[in-house]
Order: sequence, then structure tokens, then C-alpha cells
Amino acid sequence: MKVLVVGSGGREHALVWKLAQSKRAKRLFCAPGNAGTLALAENVDLRANDVLAIVSFARKEKINLVVVGPEDPLCLGLVDALSGVGIRAFGPMKAAAKIEADKAFCKQIMQQSSVPTADARVFTQFRDARTYVATRDAGIVVKASGLAQGKGVIVCDDPADAILALERIMVRREFGAAGDIVVVEEKLVGTEVSVLAFVDEHTIYLMENTQDHKAVGEGDTGPNTGGMGAYSPTPLPDDKTLRQIEAEILVPVIDALKREGVTYRGLLYAGLMLTPGGPKVLEFNCRFGDPETQPLMMRLKTDLISVFEAVIDNKLDTVSLEWDPRPAVCVVMSSAGYPGAYESGKEVLGVEEAGRLPDTVVFHAGTRRSGEKIVTSGGRVLGVTALGDTLQEARDRCHRAIDMIRFDGAYHRRDIGHKALAK
Ligand code: AMP
Ligand code: GLY
Repeated sequence: MKVLVVGSGGREHALVWKLAQSKRAKRLFCAPGNAGTLALAENVDLRANDVLAIVSFARKEKINLVVVGPEDPLCLGLVDALSGVGIRAFGPMKAAAKIEADKAFCKQIMQQSSVPTADARVFTQFRDARTYVATRDAGIVVKASGLAQGKGVIVCDDPADAILALERIMVRREFGAAGDIVVVEEKLVGTEVSVLAFVDEHTIYLMENTQDHKAVGEGDTGPNTGGMGAYSPTPLPDDKTLRQIEAEILVPVIDALKREGVTYRGLLYAGLMLTPGGPKVLEFNCRFGDPETQPLMMRLKTDLISVFEAVIDNKLDTVSLEWDPRPAVCVVMSSAGYPGAYESGKEVLGVEEAGRLPDTVVFHAGTRRSGEKIVTSGGRVLGVTALGDTLQEARDRCHRAIDMIRFDGAYHRRDIGHKALAK
């Protein structure tokens, strides 16, 4: 069959890499893809957000399965549009993707269904938000309600910082219309974990545990990024907490959506804080995590096409996922300056040699081909991922590979997995 993956990041390279192992994938396309997907798939020069162009390409090529990676096309209704012309697509429809696209809506769904989450208020006027924030004394988190490429969340230690954050979002409108509505919530303290689950009309199937490292600096310091590394499995959450997350968070949220007339089908990503008072939701994403997908795909043994098809056909109950028991680690190599301004177009060297190390895959994120060269084209450039008999060995392998790769201004964290390694 012909499969098209939409997107161009490390997540999409990992999905393409996994799909390429399926005997059933006769031809693979990636739109727009990157220098890494090019080795496994035919890159198609279309923007991931160009719904009309992607639908028309999929029709012309008679694509049998489309897998949508990023949130933007999902929230724009790409799966609705593909389904509308009879093309099978993996990912939630627009109305379900709203759980990520609209944080105020997501809060409302959680409040309606008594799902544990940070106490929050929603504002559309700067003056009202400022008045409210001034009465708070503890840590506050200010969030642009709409999609802001993961940058619209500002964690503040005190009200003065929160007022500055409100000014950035509501007055200077740094995130444009994504900041028309603002969610102001209490800052939760604890251990952050990501739970990714396949969801169809009847079934929720949890993937193995992963943990992302959002902060740019070692020891989880500095501003938040899209993710500087991830590993799987993680000791947290334990089985009891996972069952609690499924029963008290995932099931009620999916039921609440159903009561709104919305069926969730696709991948549901819950960002959670394990607090002394139990797991609480930070956010929901309507797609695979990036970079969580990189270690997960290295560990997944089951044919991914069969899983996607089962979700689309509401037959997830017939599937069981098999995992490599060995841990996997992904260490992101980023451009100097990321998550702030950074330069692109730097030549990347050593990727092929590094990828020949045992059980090591160099997933591309922000790269493109320029003639014979590979050059940087994004903040997160590569996701160097490896399996090992232990977490330490997996990480050492990543570091060995990274030592073989060079580009101007390359940066990575050396402490991915530190919480599990400290245990
Ligand atoms: P979000 O996109 O809502 O997950 O926010 C991005 C990051 O901000 C999360 O991964 C957390 O690290 C942090 N964050 C979000 N909400 C809170 C909260 N209520 N308390 C503490 N940290 C938070
Ligand atoms: N790694 C976090 C995310 O994909 O949103």
C-alpha cells in the first residue's frame, strides 16, 4: 500500500522509519519531510498545513493511509478533509483536536468531568486577568489558549512575572490570535510525565511510559523548548498510578467529549504532573509527542500500519503492542540560541557514520538537503536515539554518536534520563 506521513520533524522521521519496516508499505511519502525522511520515503514539497494541497496529492497518488504528525494540520481539519474524499487517515478530526487547539475548551471539558488539573480561570480582557493575578501569591502559569508552537505557556514564580506574561500575550500579542483567550492557572509542583495512548471509539491503549525534557538547560533549567530529549521506559508513573490515570483522567475526558458529540480517534497525549495529591493534567495533545516518539518507535516491535488501521476501524481491542524490553534514549541536538533566535543553513557532518553505531538511529528534525550536503533548517536539528541493555548504556551510545556529528553551534543536554538514572 501507499502511505503518506505529514510533517517534517523528528517525530515524522521516526514514524517514517518505523513504517518503512512494514512489509505492507510498498511506497512511502513524507510531506514535506526532511533530509532524514528522504532516505526512506519520497519527500513531497507541500506544506503540512496546506490541507487542500495534501488532499489533492493524496487523491492523485491514490494514497491508502495518511498519518498526520503535527497538531496544526489536525486542528485545521486535515483528517476530516481526507475522510471526506474517502482517504483513510490516522489522527483525530478537527472537533477532537480542539483538546489541544483550545486550552480554555480543554479546561472546561476537564472541569465538567472532574478530571484532576490545575485550578484555572479564563480571561479575554487584560485588565481582568491582571486584577485576578495581583490577588494571587503563589506560582502562576499563564497560557495562550490557542496553538503557539509550544511557546505560549509561561511559568511564573510570582504575580509580577505573571503580569509581564499577560502583557506579552494580551497587550503585545506575541502569539497573535492564539492569545485572544488566556488561561491563568496555579503552578503545579511534582514530576512531569507524558502518557501516550491510542484511542478509538471503544478502547484506550496506553503506550509504554516516556519522559520528555522540556527545559533547554541541564538540570531542567532555562526556558522551555519543544523537548530536548526523551527516554522510555520510565519508572514513573508506576502501574497503580497508570491505572489511575486511565480511569480518572483518560476515560472521563473521552466520555466528556462524547457527550459533546465528539469522537476521539487517534493518538492522545496527556502531559501530567505527578503531584503529592495524585496525577494532574497539564495539557492534552492530539498527536504523538516529539521527541517521545523517537524512543517509542525504536522500542515498538508491532507493525505500525496494523495499529493505525485498527484505530481507524475501531478495532483497537484486537491489537496488542509488543515492545523491546531494552530502554531507548533520544538526545536532541539543537542550533545555538534555540528556543530563541537561531541561525540555519549550517552544514551537518558525520550523521551517516554515527548512524552505523549499533542500535543507534540518527533521526533528523530540522535538516534539509542542499546539493550533496545536509544543512540545518530548524531549532531542533537531530534526535540521536539508541537502545541499550540499560538506560545508561543507551545514553552512552547516544553520546558516542553525538561526538561523531558536527555542525556549527550544535548544542545538546548531557543529562537526558537523569531522574531515572538517579534512582
Ligand atoms: P503545556 O503546553 O500546557 O503542557 O505547558 C508546557 C509546559 O509548561 C509543561 O510541559 C510544563 O512543564 C509547564 N506547565 C504547564 N502548566 C503548568 C502548571 N500548571 N504548573 C507547572 N508547570 C506547568
Ligand atoms: N514533547 C512535547 C510535545 O510533543 O508536545
